[in-house]
Amino acid sequence: GKGVVITGSGAATPTVSLTNQDLSQIVDTSDEWIASRTGIRERRLAVPGQSLCDLASMAGERAIAMAGIAPEDIDLIILATSTADDLFGTASQIQAKIGATKAVAFDLTAACSGFVFALVTGAQFIRNGVYRNVLLIGGDILSRWVDWSDRRTCILFGDGAGAVVMQAVESDIADCDRLLGFEIRSDGTLNHYLNLSYKGEAKELVAGVSINQGTFQPITMNGQEVYRFAVKRVPEVIEKALYRANLTVDQVDWLILHQANQRILDAVAQRLKIPPEKVISNLANYGNTSAASIAIALDEAVRAGKIKPGDIIATAGFGAGLTWGAAIFQW
Ligand code: ACO
Repeated sequence: GKGVVITGSGAATPTVSLTNQDLSQIVDTSDEWIASRTGIRERRLAVPGQSLCDLASMAGERAIAMAGIAPEDIDLIILATSTADDLFGTASQIQAKIGATKAVAFDLTAACSGFVFALVTGAQFIRNGVYRNVLLIGGDILSRWVDWSDRRTCILFGDGAGAVVMQAVESDIADCDRLLGFEIRSDGTLNHYLNLSYKGEAKELVAGVSINQGTFQPITMNGQEVYRFAVKRVPEVIEKALYRANLTVDQVDWLILHQANQRILDAVAQRLKIPPEKVISNLANYGNTSAASIAIALDEAVRAGKIKPGDIIATAGFGAGLTWGAAIFQW
């Protein structure tokens, strides 16, 4: 059998920044309110002409470079996103842009859990021996779909992309698989807490034949319910994934949660009894970048020399669906 190992990471964020101060010119809010409730200070926004394909390709190329392979070596590209440039899929455009000529590419949608879901999905193709080199990208341009007049949501989100390269290793030795455990979950009964939904209107084409045509509604969210959900469910899946990995919480070197909100990060870490110095947080600078946030935080910590080879990383995503999931892996 084959094991998986993560050999590279990369990130790409827009250079244009919108501060809390800037936001207070658009909606009735303040830096004090936003920073104290969320930890967010600024977020990066994709500018006109900057596509998800652009950001995701840049993140992917950086991960491929760190892995020391060539784009033509990639067998599979999975793009986790909820904000595709093209609803038919954006992964193929990335495949073309980076010159991953032999890769098959597809999108995967699981909102802010997307990166963890992609990590787990990619690993299955390697473990069953089908593919050797997989590029996993999480990317979102939520600024496209935020209601910029709704102060309860527009303060939270930012744009960006992050990526990792996952490769096969021979696993005759049982412990060379670096994805040590995972647990992914969905609960559609809570779907109404967080939506970016299609909204159409009836349009009669000919007598007796009506279809529904329109566009998507900006993001709606029940913030308190999402908070409650995350703080309860995320520790559960991390504990389950650690159990599967045959590890205890104190063996975790780094906790990288989906960067939604500093209060959620603090509460989850506290419930798990993981000390603050092991919690990676960069949301002050980027806000909630949805499917990108975990990979961007991972890449920053790796390039800063915080995360070192052999470190045990517990990661978890949570968000719309509702979906949530954890993965434990060794860097
Ligand atoms: N500035 C100033 N005042 C505000 C703002 C703002 N930006 N937003 C809301 N308020 C006001 C409200 O209008 C309300 O005033 P009112 O009582 O007079 O009506 C008051 O502040 C409290 O509003 P709440 O919504 O109750 O604020 P809460 O304390 O719950 O904080 C927050 C809101 C920060 C969004 C919190 O609920 C939270 O962090 N939830 C988690 C959300 C999250 O992380 N979502 C992303 C999930 S991941 C994904 O898939 C996208």
